Amino acid sequence: MRKKFVAGNWKMNKTVAEAQALATELIPGLAPLTSIERVLCPPFTALHPLAGMLQNTGIGLGAQNLYWETSGAYTAEVAPPMVAELCQYVIIGHSERRQYFGETDETVNKRVKAALAIGLTPIVCIGETLEENQAGKTAEIVSRQVRGGLADLTPPEGAKLVVAYEPVWAIGTGLAASEVDANTIHRDVVRVALAEMFGAEVAQGLQILYGGSVKPNNAANYFTQSDIDGALVGGASLKAADFVAIAQAAV
Ligand code: PGA
Repeated sequence: MRKKFVAGNWKMNKTVAEAQALATELIPGLAPLTSIERVLCPPFTALHPLAGMLQNTGIGLGAQNLYWETSGAYTAEVAPPMVAELCQYVIIGHSERRQYFGETDETVNKRVKAALAIGLTPIVCIGETLEENQAGKTAEIVSRQVRGGLADLTPPEGAKLVVAYEPVWAIGTGLAASEVDANTIHRDVVRVALAEMFGAEVAQGLQILYGGSVKPNNAANYFTQSDIDGALVGGASLKAADFVAIAQAAV
């Protein structure tokens, strides 16, 4: 049985004071939901204060990226030990990183290896663009992203990942993928690729999240599908009542 997993990606939103206020609202709603994994991913600047606030709540903390070198002259980058000091999770390869900041399957792969090496759980994002979707290339693109981003990992390393399928055209647009379409990609493309790479047993145990316009009114539809093990939530994770409602739908 795969545990349901709900993560909030706050993206480039919330000052420290605003992040603390949101966390204060979220903690009483999320802490009791012990049957699922719930994770908050604020901006880097809010990680330290939130790490303190989330102690002993059972709520995990994640960064939105990390660099693969351990230290050195890489101005503005954040190293794995710095993230691991505060967090248990890290989002890697979000489509906004791919779209605006030159992230590729190769750089995703380097970040995933660095995260695993220091004991962080990577939440690895994949997903096709609208153009690729309309050209009927979804399976090909998603499969390539899984194989490229997770290349050279051993099965025990593969077993430590979380994967998030987020069709780019569904992110922040209100145009969510249907739960049946998303489940088909999870089951027939992502889990199949994971099984070929890490073996059937590891693949069956891995959590595959859906992301892209998940809201309180559609969340339950996703969570009842066979191969949708949770959600990576953007916009709705910035409103405490909405994110708690989504997490409750996963319970
Ligand atoms: P959204 O974002 O929920 O605002 O569509 C999802 C994401 O980018 O992770």
